[in-house]
Amino acid sequence: MPNYVSQTGAVYSLPQQHLARGGEGSVYNVIHHPDLVAKIYHPNHLTPALQRKLETMVANPPVDDTRRTLQHVSIAWPEQLLYQNGRFVGYMMKKISQSDKLYMLIQPQQRKQKYPNIDHRVLYRVARNYAAAMAALHHKNYIVGDVNPNNALFNNRSLVTIVDCDSMQVIDRTGQTHLCIVGMDEYTAQELQGKDLRRTKRTQDSDTFGLAVIIYQLLMQGFHPFQGVPLLGAPNTQMSHVYCIANGIFPHITNNQFAPPPAAPAFGALPKELQDTFKRAFLSPNNRPSAKTWQQVLATCEQRLQRCTKNDRHYHPSDGQCVICAVQSNTQKLQFKLHSSLWVNSVWMWIKPRKGSVLLWVIVLFILIGLCSPVMSVVAFMVDLWRTIFGT
Ligand SMILES: Nc1ncnc2c1ncn2[C@@H]1O[C@H](COP(=O)(O)OP(=O)(O)O)[C@@H](O)[C@H]1O
Ligand SMILES: [Mg+2]
Ligand SMILES: [Zn+2]
Repeated sequence: MPNYVSQTGAVYSLPQQHLARGGEGSVYNVIHHPDLVAKIYHPNHLTPALQRKLETMVANPPVDDTRRTLQHVSIAWPEQLLYQNGRFVGYMMKKISQSDKLYMLIQPQQRKQKYPNIDHRVLYRVARNYAAAMAALHHKNYIVGDVNPNNALFNNRSLVTIVDCDSMQVIDRTGQTHLCIVGMDEYTAQELQGKDLRRTKRTQDSDTFGLAVIIYQLLMQGFHPFQGVPLLGAPNTQMSHVYCIANGIFPHITNNQFAPPPAAPAFGALPKELQDTFKRAFLSPNNRPSAKTWQQVLATCEQRLQRCTKNDRHYHPSDGQCVICAVQSNTQKLQFKLHSSLWVNSVWMWIKPRKGSVLLWVIVLFILIGLCSPVMSVVAFMVDLWRTIFGT
């Protein structure tokens, strides 16, 4: 592959084969620089506006504290623009390896299978580190926009990296806002639901809604906070969580439309401090906790983590309950209910009167009466005997 020149005039070469291919460009290793990767945009994505956006990002990076304190990159930020024959073609950033998507931590079955040793100590720490990385971005006025658990990675030190930074909402040096035009409905705040994201400016508050949903899923065994079961008269929609976000219904707070899923851990299993922070995030669009607040609240809860009394591989804050045990017990109750109703149902199917079964029922009745009369005679005899003996 031909050489690329960076903003500083240094020359870099990339291998023929890309490391990964995304929607907007391909990502390559950089020869002789094992700590870097280069993202080269597909030609139809190259515009002067994109170049201006990236120039602004390179010139004004967020303060990524963990680079200094823990030798870890928490934000895979563009570091150098790359040019070919004088034309902007892409950028370089730090290579993130040996990490997995946050998504892999959210679903408990998947987590248990792939990472059997991960417990709530890790989940609290990952949630806190994710909030810290978002706080650093917000501090510099960058908006993540497409907040979802595939755009953040974690490693075996419970450290987090936010990736796909070139999709974020950025105000460039000319004052133009470059919007983030994509998003996943289940992490999108109420005020943005149904809006055309290609024309909608996002705020830190819309980011912190998605952040709160991800934190909730990490701590509460993968359950989405807005997932609910429709009560009588409520619409039976397939995407109940998206319907509830759009309509401002938080199923864990009593309402007449949706109840929490029966297997979900009770909201009350969380420490009061976390319940209050989640309520603000989910019910007060104008007063959502900032990423920095989340970082602080999670750090204090983390200090109160203790072993579960039923299973010493589980952890929960001392002022909360074990959510793993809660889900196990709810699931057992559900299974018992399901089995008993199946049993009642099959007995009923067996004895239920059917067309042409009247004769059968008459025969059964006669047999029962026939069986009853000798029993009744024995009872009458016993009563007589009793009276004779005791004279009552
Ligand atoms: N800093 C990085 N280090 C290692 N791999 C990366 C890095 N950034 C992106 N990748 C890989 O490249 C893929 C595509 O990158 P991404 O920026 O998400 O593409 P797009 O936004 O064009 O879809 C990612 O899914 C990931 O596998
Ligand atoms: Mg992208
Ligand atoms: Zn437990």
